Amino acid sequence: MATESAAKTPALRRERQLAMYRRALEHLPGGTDSNFRAWGNDTVYVDRGQGGMVWDVDGNEYVDLRMGYGPVILGHGDDRVDDYVNERMRKGVSFSLTSEDEVRAVELICELTGWVDMARLTVSGTEATMHAMRVARAYTGRDKIVKFEGQYHGVHDYALISVGPDDMSELGDADAPVALAWGRGIPGAVADTIIPARYNRIDRLRTLFEERGHEIAAVIVEPVLGNAQGIMPQPGFHQAMRALTEEFGILLIFDEVKTGFRFAKGGAAEFFGITPDIATFAKAMGNGYPAAAFGGRREVMSVLPDKVSHGGTYAGNRVAAAAAVKTLSILKETDALETVHDTGRRIQAGLTEILNPTGIPYHFTGHPAMFGIMFREEEATEYRDWATTDHELYDAIAVGMHPRGAMPEPDSREPWFMCEAHSQGDIVDRVVSAFEGSLQAALDARAGASVVGLALSPAG
Ligand SMILES: Cc1ncc(COP(=O)(O)O)c(C=O)c1O
Repeated sequence: MATESAAKTPALRRERQLAMYRRALEHLPGGTDSNFRAWGNDTVYVDRGQGGMVWDVDGNEYVDLRMGYGPVILGHGDDRVDDYVNERMRKGVSFSLTSEDEVRAVELICELTGWVDMARLTVSGTEATMHAMRVARAYTGRDKIVKFEGQYHGVHDYALISVGPDDMSELGDADAPVALAWGRGIPGAVADTIIPARYNRIDRLRTLFEERGHEIAAVIVEPVLGNAQGIMPQPGFHQAMRALTEEFGILLIFDEVKTGFRFAKGGAAEFFGITPDIATFAKAMGNGYPAAAFGGRREVMSVLPDKVSHGGTYAGNRVAAAAAVKTLSILKETDALETVHDTGRRIQAGLTEILNPTGIPYHFTGHPAMFGIMFREEEATEYRDWATTDHELYDAIAVGMHPRGAMPEPDSREPWFMCEAHSQGDIVDRVVSAFEGSLQAALDARAGASVVGLALSPAG
């Protein structure tokens, strides 16, 4: 391993960002528009992005491994998408009337997935999962939704149950998980409609269905546990869940907000060979523009428009619809996704070369298009496993990569997202070398801490 480690950590310029943070704090809670971006004094204020790169307002340059939590599948400022959006938006943006771009965007979703017959556009993944749940309830006449611990489906009340505690005991007994609301303000009556379950535990799901199947409208699942670095389903899990839901007349909702048009042209449903009843899409379908959708089998979707409410002033707005048309066309007609997958594999190969000689137990989670590194020998199979990984080491490496020129999320639960433009230039090498330097520094700091600990300990 290189010896850059022993050298001191390079410093990030932070003056302008700190000033902006103080300014923003006056009027934006936490200084940002999302709790997930509120990193205290380290909150990042972005200037611009291009391809796989991003620059903050202090001029620090990074390879972007967050890609806006996944949507930017092609790259920042992609001319193909931006030019098309620019051209279309000059015809007007919001009419609360329907444009051909909307019709084409939905046709593309149907063509790419091969199983979605009908869909409606929304402007966020949150809206998409909220409407998917409502459609499922309306179609089945049942109220309860099963959701898996640790899975994230957005910020509406029905989604914010048993999502991401650090302390796993808050999720309740492993045999009897509790519906844990994330934060205040979620009515108990709403939380009671969500039944938490454990991902990859098919026997427990069967028991649950046997006891309460008659109340359950749907199971909503992130096909991989995206909120814990993309933990993969055990072989056969999705197939068994599909069979089980059919047996009990329960709908299967694939939340493909992260995996859609990223794992395969037809998303995770194609990748795992599953035909759900409903799916939700967002992120990769618009290359960062606010495009999202929910859709499914014709019979299920036919509760719209007469029996179920859905609308939205901005639903299908021209900017998002045009972005979806162009992005989905590119994903359909080019080998962009193969490039994305190949780049992920190249980065993983580089990290493997660095990690293997250290003897640190680790495994990659997820798919090369969206992967994580878990410091633990055995493969993680559910959210509770995250607590038993060495996530402090991961966090130290992730934070240390920022001054070394690559920006993963500084939280070990968020995967690295690949985009087509990451294949360009020396980006792969830059990521690998930022990881190498940061890993060594984190290990040195640990070794230093244990020497200090030894020196300070009364016995030492
Ligand atoms: C699987 C999944 N579902 C839903 C959402 C919510 O999407 P949005 O942030 O667009 O509301 C997200 C966002 O990260 C997600 O990852």
